[in-house]
Amino acid sequence: MTLEEKLGQLAQYRWSWRDDTVKEQYRQYIREGRVGSFLGIAGVGHTRELQRLAVEESRLKIPLLFAEDVIHGWRTTFPVPLAEAGSWDPAAVERSARIAAIEASAMGLHWTFAPMVDIARDPRWGRIVEGSGEDPYLGSVMAAARVRGFSRGGDLSAPNTLLACAKHFAAYGGAEGGRDYNTVELSERTLREIYLEPFRAAVQAGAGSIMSAFNEVNGVPMTANGWMINDILRGEWGFTGLVVSDYTAVAELQPHGVAANRAEAGVLALAAGVDIDMVSGIYGNDLEELVRQGKLDEALVDQAVRRVLEAKYRLGLFDDPYRYHDAEREKTSLLTPEHLAAAREMARKSIVLLKNEKEILPLSKNLKTLAVIGALADDRRSSLGPWSGAGDTADVVTLLEGIERALPASAKILYAEGYDKKTFTDRGGFARAIQAAKSAEAVILVLGETAGMSGEASNRASLDLPGEQEALARAIHAVGKPLVVVLMNGRPLSINWLVEGSFGAENVPAILETWFLGVQTGPAAADVLFGDYNPGGKLPATFPRSAGQIPIYYNHKNTGRPPIAGEHYTSQYLDLPFTPLYPFGYGLSYTTFEYGAPRLSVPEMEFIDTLTVEVNVTNTGKRPGDEVVQFYIQDEVASVTRPVKQLRGFRRIHLEPGETQTVTFQLTFEDLAFYNQEMQWVVEPGFFKVFLGGNSVEVQEARFEIRSGKL
Ligand code: NOJ
Repeated sequence: MTLEEKLGQLAQYRWSWRDDTVKEQYRQYIREGRVGSFLGIAGVGHTRELQRLAVEESRLKIPLLFAEDVIHGWRTTFPVPLAEAGSWDPAAVERSARIAAIEASAMGLHWTFAPMVDIARDPRWGRIVEGSGEDPYLGSVMAAARVRGFSRGGDLSAPNTLLACAKHFAAYGGAEGGRDYNTVELSERTLREIYLEPFRAAVQAGAGSIMSAFNEVNGVPMTANGWMINDILRGEWGFTGLVVSDYTAVAELQPHGVAANRAEAGVLALAAGVDIDMVSGIYGNDLEELVRQGKLDEALVDQAVRRVLEAKYRLGLFDDPYRYHDAEREKTSLLTPEHLAAAREMARKSIVLLKNEKEILPLSKNLKTLAVIGALADDRRSSLGPWSGAGDTADVVTLLEGIERALPASAKILYAEGYDKKTFTDRGGFARAIQAAKSAEAVILVLGETAGMSGEASNRASLDLPGEQEALARAIHAVGKPLVVVLMNGRPLSINWLVEGSFGAENVPAILETWFLGVQTGPAAADVLFGDYNPGGKLPATFPRSAGQIPIYYNHKNTGRPPIAGEHYTSQYLDLPFTPLYPFGYGLSYTTFEYGAPRLSVPEMEFIDTLTVEVNVTNTGKRPGDEVVQFYIQDEVASVTRPVKQLRGFRRIHLEPGETQTVTFQLTFEDLAFYNQEMQWVVEPGFFKVFLGGNSVEVQEARFEIRSGKL
């Protein structure tokens, strides 16, 4: 390979649909071997044609890679990742990713920029919607499930698999103030124990690539962070795959202030272990001269090229460069009944019941009149959620349509938009909405955010319902009809008034969190609203009472003065309780569950033993339902402070009325270990608590002792 051809493999460009000059330039690049991969293009016709140029008209005939953000489904849009995490069902999430891979690969794609595995402890950050929430354990389980689904555990031999890419390495969610791309400062312990864990899990599950993040960590931008990419990711974890920069992130080393010019930026990124330059055009255009002048070691280039070629080999492209470009497969693989059924099932599993007083839910299908209020109820675009891939608004069954389908034709549905969903600030629709509520037996009020209010760069300083929505809720509530609020949103919201009311006034009795559920929004939500499905999802992130409480997460430290209500010199606020509105892991059901006392296999053990913890869970209500049994630990006394709780296991189980199941968890060395003051991974002797329950607060407790610890 010539130096130019090598650097070409490291260059990734965004296909341009509009600009003919750019298209022609990229075609020429392909012929000259000056591009290794594209993003922003899909469809067998287009990708096949470019692949043909690469393998027939370039000197070395190296196939191209086509990459895209396949985030939650592809043509069959599934719930947003945050919602899917709320299912606490890794098998369902794996299946969702598998279907996404089947559809996206049928449209000519080899590589997805997913899963997004960033821990998000700050719901102002718009990208919380793309990940699995606040917890490293849940995040790791979901990361691994998605990697397995996309790439069958890294076995890319079948052409309906995608090369997975865990992103954004790392700590991107730690952005100060919740502002995307912002500075990240954290201790190495927090970095490793919280933010890196899901990446390690993704690597272990066989992720073939990693995307370096936009942000800096402790003064070093991730695109130039050799310690984290070369030393931790590749060195400590043994990752052998590809690292791709984020979009123009190599060039952004200049505004970060660590590179004086493009060439310097390129050298820093390559030396840090970033193999592919996404879209900056620096590797492709600015490095050749430096190698020729002896200022950049060609061995660094060779190493990156080897990784790119290896990915192409693993995808089977050297055997058959067209294996992802089969027009027949494209025709038959998208939006199949089977995929739609899976999307509906995933969506039902993702819904979280936050409140249900007076058993107002499920609603009866015998209602003669039902008011559906809120423009989000019929918003096709928002139903798909951010990053909706090849999702088509025409395929969406909205919440309103789902309700219409679920009820007999004789039922009268009074739909009123209530607010203007562009700004939410107009009260012009209130009067009609109030009228609809007055004329109906019950009201479903749909509130929240549009899809554009979360996702990349869509951060919010407030977590309140945007605009005049709370005012609308108060006005509708005042009508006095049975009221169900359905939330559509991409982040935890501070919906205090809905939950708790004010000044002793009665509050909204039922609240259902649906996030953005994808093409099957309507059928899935209607299944839950009318009781054809009993909701069992649990929150993957804490709901604060106010943005002022952020950061607020369940696995915090105790401090020397833990908050005690009414005691002034403890860690709390004057103007708000210290507790969240809804804790991590929270979610109700139409039935009730009871937990027995946890049973430990032994009260004490040597560090090498495995401890088994068992708990009986009984469905004490009248309906069959799912419960997510959650298992947390606490190291009571250690050489460094430890979180008050850490999730170490969970299982979503199904119980018939009256049925009891015994759920068993195993605790191993890894579950109890942490980084001590010397940053060694240790278990220290002493007492540990275990907690079992249906959320992170309401738990049953037990205790055991480890008699001897060891590195
Ligand atoms: C920028 C985003 O940060 C990243 O997640 C995405 O994969 C790329 N753009 C490509 O679309």
